[in-house]
Amino acid sequence: MAESDGKIVGYVNGCLDNRRFGLAMTFLLIPKLLVKGLGRGVFWRKEFWNIVQAMLKNWRRLFVWRQKSFHSYQGHLHVGIAKDFRGQDIGGRLVCSLMDYAKGRGITEMTASVHAGNVPACRFFESAGFEAREQYPMVMAQGDSWVKYHSIVYVKKLV
Ligand SMILES: CC(C)(COP(=O)(O)OP(=O)(O)OC[C@H]1O[C@@H](n2cnc3c(N)ncnc32)[C@H](O)[C@@H]1OP(=O)(O)O)[C@@H](O)C(=O)NCCC(=O)NCCS
Repeated sequence: MAESDGKIVGYVNGCLDNRRFGLAMTFLLIPKLLVKGLGRGVFWRKEFWNIVQAMLKNWRRLFVWRQKSFHSYQGHLHVGIAKDFRGQDIGGRLVCSLMDYAKGRGITEMTASVHAGNVPACRFFESAGFEAREQYPMVMAQGDSWVKYHSIVYVKKLV
């Protein structure tokens, strides 16, 4: 986390074991969320079914059509900086510290997935030494409809 005056202004998070992350998502988090959602009446909402349909449209793209599946990479990360604090090297330093931590734990590669239209994030990962490895189409639920976009997989070798 990055803080300014006691407020969180940026974060980096991720996972050093994508396979374990996939198992935890499938068998722990998603079932728990479904039970919670049932209690909150989420299944009667149109947006929920729109998201489910978008996920079904994506499964081939995530697991079949990609050159390498998400799980075949070791770890992944997400980073976000509050708008007023961007361009101050906060994201760069957060990612660098996660990379050092991952390297110390014996991890040899980290990935980040970026919406191809997110030019600042693409430049950011390229400047941090990540390489665009592959690009694949995705569908994202937005309100009542779906939007098609491309996701770029950035990879950084840590050895
Ligand atoms: C992408 C993001 C994390 C960058 O964080 P940041 O703290 O502003 O980035 P930094 O100041 O550390 O920038 C490091 C380098 O990245 C590149 N960069 C960062 N923002 C850029 C921009 N808007 N345009 C072009 N290059 C940019 C530059 O090369 C920069 O080095 P420089 O300042 O010496 O030129 C931030 O814009 C963000 O939170 N975006 C929204 C969330 C997101 O898209 N996350 C990525 C997907 S996981």
